[in-house]
Amino acid sequence: MKHLIVSLLGWACFRAVSGAPLARGKAFDRFITIWLENQDYAKVAADSHIADLKRQGILLTRYYAHTHPSQPNYLAAVGGDYFGLNHDNWVRIPENVATVADIVEDKNITWAGYFEDQPGPGYMGNASDGSTGNGGWDYVRKHNPFVSYDSVNKNGERLLNLDSFNAFQRAFAAKEVPQFVFMSPNMMNDGHNTTLDTATKWSHRFLEPLLAGDAFDEPTLIALTYDESETYSEPNHIVTLLLGSAIPPALKGTEDDTFYTHYSILSTVQANWGLHNLGRYDVGANVFRFVADMVGYTGNKDPENAATVNNSVSYPGALNDDTSKRLPIPAPNTKLVGAGGLPILPAIEKAWSGARKWQTPYDGSGKVFDADSPPVYMPPTANPS
Ligand SMILES: *[C@@H]1O[C@H](CO)[C@@H](O)[C@H](O)[C@H]1NC(C)=O
Ligand SMILES: *[C@@H]1O[C@H](CO)[C@@H](O)[C@H](O)[C@H]1NC(C)=O
Ligand SMILES: *[C@@H]1O[C@H](CO)[C@@H](O)[C@H](O)[C@H]1NC(C)=O
Ligand SMILES: *[C@@H]1O[C@H](CO)[C@@H](O)[C@H](O)[C@H]1NC(C)=O
Repeated sequence: MKHLIVSLLGWACFRAVSGAPLARGKAFDRFITIWLENQDYAKVAADSHIADLKRQGILLTRYYAHTHPSQPNYLAAVGGDYFGLNHDNWVRIPENVATVADIVEDKNITWAGYFEDQPGPGYMGNASDGSTGNGGWDYVRKHNPFVSYDSVNKNGERLLNLDSFNAFQRAFAAKEVPQFVFMSPNMMNDGHNTTLDTATKWSHRFLEPLLAGDAFDEPTLIALTYDESETYSEPNHIVTLLLGSAIPPALKGTEDDTFYTHYSILSTVQANWGLHNLGRYDVGANVFRFVADMVGYTGNKDPENAATVNNSVSYPGALNDDTSKRLPIPAPNTKLVGAGGLPILPAIEKAWSGARKWQTPYDGSGKVFDADSPPVYMPPTANPS
């Protein structure tokens, strides 16, 4: 009996994901986010497929995207800023800018990006016709947030973590889905070139096997979200639905009215696994409430400008296509402690050590910014109390 218990425990603790030990989180052991396109909160919340999924999850009722169009929102979710980007064209972000890949790899947490109709692992092209829709169901680089970061695309192992939905299905069947996963369906299934109903129906069907009781051996949190709203003249309010086996049973079918943005993806995984931070807008972003409650994180609050949030036009920055609005990539704030209870990732601090005296827009306050209310640069300070 003792041997049985020991071996069961051994199996539970060291069940391999591609041979690596599995890093345990406080609220979940795996996080999967799936991104749909361009819909306003009110219409999505009223959709029947979403209403049906909601019975199994938590609807986040005050979740805001950062700007328009799509690409900056995707980049923000993995890098903690969108660097003034205001377009969907090809961009590259210098190698000294870290992403979620750096902070999860630091704790040996496996990660991947899966992009439907990406033609093969590590593809760096701008777009590709898919095989599933008469050559029309397309992969687009602007919906792949990782590939534009040189810290990913100049690292062969990381680049190979970017693959197709077929690769996801193979990993799912083998029970080897990595622990942090970002997924973008193709331009038809994500609703970009189709309708709200096409995308929610696709989501319902796609999620069904992932929500089955035996889908994953470990507690898994799935965040189905939209990149941005459809109506540019209104504040950028979108639906995000939390699902999966990590949702506490008592919270299924409930709503959470905490203020969130895509930076909450970063702060939530940091809180869950006790990770270092990126020293950017990840610090101060509210942590999904049920996770905050489970880990004892008490920093959630409304940004001081939440009532007037618009998030519709990009603030100035390095990637802005208006040369009069260009600014250098800001240095991270090396003095902030993030939701994981830790300071900036030491490797990031090292990479930016020559820039210590620079001013930084990141203050850990959780305030939101757009063109009407651009970031203010200041010498780096510790988190506001
Ligand atoms: C990550 O894995 C490496 C190599 O196996 C090991 O040396 C290191 O201690 C691990 N780090 C953590 C945080 O588990
Ligand atoms: C992608 O688009 C950029 C900008 O238009 C262009 O410079 C680059 O060559 C394109 N890449 C590929 C692989 O076609
Ligand atoms: C989707 O829309 C884009 C323009 O936004 C277009 O270039 C592409 O061909 C469209 N794809 C399909 C399958 O209609
Ligand atoms: C938000 O910004 C857009 C674009 O500048 C503008 O059209 C709209 O009036 C703003 N909305 C609010 C509520 O401020």
